[in-house]
Amino acid sequence: MSDSRRQSDRDSGLGIRPSASSGRSEALEGRDSKIEDLIAAARAVREHAHADYSGFKVGAALETADGTIVTGCNIENATYGLTVCAERVAMFKALSEGHREFRRMVVVAPPDAPTPPCGACRQVLWEFAGDLEIVLANLNGETGRHRMSELLPQPFDRRLLD
Ligand code: THU
Repeated sequence: MSDSRRQSDRDSGLGIRPSASSGRSEALEGRDSKIEDLIAAARAVREHAHADYSGFKVGAALETADGTIVTGCNIENATYGLTVCAERVAMFKALSEGHREFRRMVVVAPPDAPTPPCGACRQVLWEFAGDLEIVLANLNGETGRHRMSELLPQPFDRRLLD
C-alpha cells in the first residue's frame, strides 16, 4: 500500500482518529440516540447471547455517526477459543453493513462491578473506531464511562506499520 493510500485511510476513518463524537455538537445534529435507548438495545440483544459455557450473557449497542444503533451479543463455541464477544459482534455487523464512523458503544453485562471490554475487543475497537466512548452498564443501569485511549493507552496500530 502506498504512503498516500495509508494517509487517506487514516483520514477517512479506517485508521486512528478521535471518535466521531468528539469536538462536535451532537445536539445540533439532532440525531443522536439517547443513552437510555442504547442501554435498552444492549440489554435486549443480550437475551440472544449464546453463552451456554460461561452463562455470562453480554449485550453491546454501537451508535454510528448517523445515529444508527447496531447491536451484538456474545456467541460462544465448544472450542471456547472461537467465542466472539458482544463488542466485536456489534462492530463487525456495523462494518459489514457499511458503517465507518462511530460515536459510542454501550456494553451491558451482569456484574455489579463495571465490566470493560476484553483485550481483543479493545484492539478491534481501536482499529475501527479510534478513541470511542465506552459506556458500561449492568442490569440496573450505567456503571462507568471510558474513552478507548484510556482503556488501550499504548496501542499497536497501523501507525507503527508505516
Ligand atoms: N464477554 C463479552 O462478550 N464481552 C466482554 O466485555 C467480556 C466477556 C463474553 C465472552 C464470553 O462469552 C463470556 O463473556 C465470558 O467471558
